[in-house]
Amino acid sequence: MKKYFDVGYHYDSITEGWRYIFGDNFHIGYFKTLEDNLDRATDNLIDELASLCKLGPKTKILDAGCGIGAPAVYLYDKFGSDITGISISRKGVELANSRIQGNKYNGKIRFIVADMTSTGFPDKSFDVIWMMESSHLALNKALLFDECYRLLRPGGFVLLSDVLRSEKYNFVFKFKNIFQLVNMIKTFGGGITETPQRYIELLRKSSFKNIFFRDVSKETETTFNSWHENIIRNKNVLIKVFGKCEIKRFERSIETFKYLFSEKFKYYYLFRAEK
Ligand SMILES: C[S@@+](CC[C@H](N)C(=O)[O-])C[C@H]1O[C@@H](n2cnc3c(N)ncnc32)[C@H](O)[C@@H]1O
Repeated sequence: MKKYFDVGYHYDSITEGWRYIFGDNFHIGYFKTLEDNLDRATDNLIDELASLCKLGPKTKILDAGCGIGAPAVYLYDKFGSDITGISISRKGVELANSRIQGNKYNGKIRFIVADMTSTGFPDKSFDVIWMMESSHLALNKALLFDECYRLLRPGGFVLLSDVLRSEKYNFVFKFKNIFQLVNMIKTFGGGITETPQRYIELLRKSSFKNIFFRDVSKETETTFNSWHENIIRNKNVLIKVFGKCEIKRFERSIETFKYLFSEKFKYYYLFRAEK
C-alpha cells in the first residue's frame, strides 16, 4: 500500500495511460447540458472555478498540482495570466512543458517539479493559488494551506476544487466498504479526503477569510459514465499500458465513485478563500 501514497511515483506511472480515460484535464467534468462531452465538461469545471474571482493578464497564478499542464494553458488562453505550474510528478511536468513549446506562450507559463506543501517560492509571490483536484493528495492539509497563505499577496485567493468526504462517510461506512476504498486508493493514489466543514476549519486556522464553497456533485456525476465509455473505446491500448487487472480495478473504482456521488452522499466542491 505504501507505494500508492508516494504521489510522485503514482502519477509518474499512471500519467500516460490516464490520458486515454480522462483526456488532458486530469479532473472531473462539470456537465452543463446533455450535449457536453467529457472534454467540454472538464473545461467547464475550469470556467466555474475561474468565475469565483477576477483573472486577467496581470494576475500571477500558481497552479499547485498542475497535472499535464492543460488547465494552465486553458487559463492562459482565456485570461492571459502569468502562470507557474508545479507538480510532484516528473512525468507530468515533462508533458506539461512539451505543451508550451513555441512562441505563443512567451515565457508567460512555466512548469517545474516542486512539492506544493513546501514550494521554496518567496512570500507573497502570487495573486491566486489554483488547486484543482490536488489538495486531497496532500496528507498534511494544515501545512498545505499555511504554505498557500504565505505565498499569496494580501487580498489574493485560493481557488480549489476537489473530491471531499461526506459526513456520512464514518467508521461504519469505512468498515463496510473497506475493499472498495482500498481499490480507490490503488487506482487514484493515496490521499486523505476531508469534509467541507474540516476544510473551512483548516483554512481559517491558516488565517484565510471570506471562505465560500459550493457543492457541485450533481453537475459532475455524468463524468463516471464518460470515463467508462473511454475505457471501452480505448481498451486495447489501455490493456497494453496498464494490464487487464488494473483496468478491471479502474472499472470497479468507477462503480464506487458512482455510489459515492449518489443522492446519499455529496462529494465534489468548489472553494474560494481570501488572504
Ligand atoms: C488529479 S491530478 C490534477 C491535475 C490538474 N490539476 C488537472 O486538473 O488536470 C493531481 C495532481 O496533483 C499533483 N500533486 C499531488 N500532490 C502534490 C504535491 N504534494 N505537490 C505538487 N503536486 C502534487 C499530482 O502530481 C497531479 O499532477
